[in-house]
Amino acid sequence: LIEKALLGKLIVPDFSEFTESIEKIYEIVKEVKDGENASYIPQLAEVDSNLFSIAACTVDGQQCDIGDSDTYFCVQSCSKAISYCIAVEEHGIDYVHKHVGKEPSGASFNKNFLNPDNLPHNPMINSGAIMIAALISPDLEMYKRYEYVKRYWSSLAAGARVGFQNATYLSEKDTASRNFCLGHMMMDAKAFPEDTDLDNILDFYFQLCSLEVTSKDMAIIAASLANGGVCPMTNQRIFKEDTVNHCLSLMHSCGMYDYSGEWAYSVGIPAKSGVGGCVFLVVPKVMGICIFSPRLDSRGNSVRGIEASKLLLKEYTMHRY
Ligand code: DON
Repeated sequence: LIEKALLGKLIVPDFSEFTESIEKIYEIVKEVKDGENASYIPQLAEVDSNLFSIAACTVDGQQCDIGDSDTYFCVQSCSKAISYCIAVEEHGIDYVHKHVGKEPSGASFNKNFLNPDNLPHNPMINSGAIMIAALISPDLEMYKRYEYVKRYWSSLAAGARVGFQNATYLSEKDTASRNFCLGHMMMDAKAFPEDTDLDNILDFYFQLCSLEVTSKDMAIIAASLANGGVCPMTNQRIFKEDTVNHCLSLMHSCGMYDYSGEWAYSVGIPAKSGVGGCVFLVVPKVMGICIFSPRLDSRGNSVRGIEASKLLLKEYTMHRY
């Protein structure tokens, strides 16, 4: 990093200016108090609604953050992007997409329907992510599968601690009729690989949604995706570039639920949100950004996450077109 700085070859040469913009945006967006914590998973309603942070990491390792960026939050649906990459690494896209589509569903993330091929619409919504959970290392015992995925998360975050929110996991499991219903619908449609144990897979899916990271670490994870699968802090390759490109394409078209079209139109870069309040953005070949604030809009996206992204994109033209 120092060498690149000395040679004037940093990917964002005016990073201090960028940091100042982030700080300005943080102060403006902090005043936004709209939205409410997710409550359909009871434990998420208990999270302090005022928490707010923005963190960024470039593909050459420059970092900045502001607000509650060391606070752990529950990744929820942000896990879907990482789980998809893991499944694609293991099986390749042909096999993975025999079990899950690539089209936006145009409906809420837990809507009860399948595509015309009787498959989940895409891996970024609940049905698709439950399917992906069934594809991840099906021969490993359940406790090993969990550890295996958690190791990926930690490597993407340069070895950071990745935690688990047991209370969130238990409260989701207790109230997950909708996901059980989606699972049974897919079982009925014979969409899963043979021998899938649905109860185990749903449990695994809830576990993956209950992982916790900090915003600083999530920004590094996003930067690893921006960097084609190589963690910028350790230079370790974690995913193949192709795998990441497939994931980013799906994040671009499906990552923000039924707001994905508007997002692609107005913000124009791949992103993924989760009902824990995280939105992470990937600016390919430049940086990863994590915005965390638990209050959500009616679609389940963080209100401040969307506001901050819009302001940021107004100042820095990251829109791809
Ligand atoms: O399955 C659920 O409803 C949550 N564990 C995750 C939902 C979420 O973050 C929004 N979804 N795609």
